[in-house]
Amino acid sequence: MMENVRPCVYCSRRVPGPVLAELEQLFELELHDSERPPPREELLRAAAGRDGLLTMLTDRVDGELLDAAGPQLRAVGNFAVGYDNVDVAAATARGVVVSNTPDVLTRATAELALALLLSLRRRVTEGDRLIRRREPWLMAPTFMLGHGLEGATLGVVGMGRIGAETARLAGSLGMDVISAGRSGGLPLPELLARADAVSLHCPLTPETRHLIDAAALRLMKPTAVLVNTSRGPVVDEAALAAALREGVIAGAALDVYEAEPEVREELLALENVVLTPHLGSATHEARVGMGMLCVEGLRAVLLDRRAPANALNPEALR
Ligand code: GLV
Ligand code: GLV
Repeated sequence: MMENVRPCVYCSRRVPGPVLAELEQLFELELHDSERPPPREELLRAAAGRDGLLTMLTDRVDGELLDAAGPQLRAVGNFAVGYDNVDVAAATARGVVVSNTPDVLTRATAELALALLLSLRRRVTEGDRLIRRREPWLMAPTFMLGHGLEGATLGVVGMGRIGAETARLAGSLGMDVISAGRSGGLPLPELLARADAVSLHCPLTPETRHLIDAAALRLMKPTAVLVNTSRGPVVDEAALAAALREGVIAGAALDVYEAEPEVREELLALENVVLTPHLGSATHEARVGMGMLCVEGLRAVLLDRRAPANALNPEALR
């Protein structure tokens, strides 16, 4: 009996093995078994008739997709903590419970912010490029000097889970931490003026789009660096490239991009820039944890008829 009533779930990307095993055990699963997203038309087609969707931040979850799925759709598990790709109001209006994946990626993302900051201040990737170019070099008292972290001031923008963990790790490395955000801290202009490094940890919302624009960059010290592991559009990338070129700030480390996965050509030529391909949560541990939270979100709604702890709109449960 149970076998015949297993809910149908479509998963839009390849997921780690333990997550796949759990999905296959619980649901009638249709998997887009690729690291690349399904084209929009395919996503719309594949969603049709499903009870649950497991989506990635590169899938736009909007009224169009929800309607393409149909009225039996009751749950969406979004494989990310950020949910700027989801129209939560549209989901609520259709009785679809959406869940995200907080907590399990907090440490991984904070570690990446620190890794980027260290790479930039200690010129790790720059030195790596120099060696791979087979340039002659010799350790010397004045060769390729950077700056340490101890005693430097880190400005954390957005003191949510990831921002707070980044602050904690930075503090343990001897940095002085200041913060700005919705829930208090310094006014942003003051943080920008005081920080030796600014690390962004806010969600992407209409208020935070281009939060770091040309004017904001001009408030920063010429010796300061910017680290972004949040969402690309929080930074005006054209303004950032200009600021880096003109020495308005000393460097930038980016894990996310305005037109991801496109990376602005000008940034590639700059030595004082560290670039990673959206690796914030990319540890085996975090990705399994994220997948399991998605499974839990779908299971709660589709099998147990309750809202999961990490529901963004528990009121949508029907
Ligand atoms: C990744 O960017 C996430 O929001 O989880
Ligand atoms: C540097 O390599 C040192 O030994 O001080």
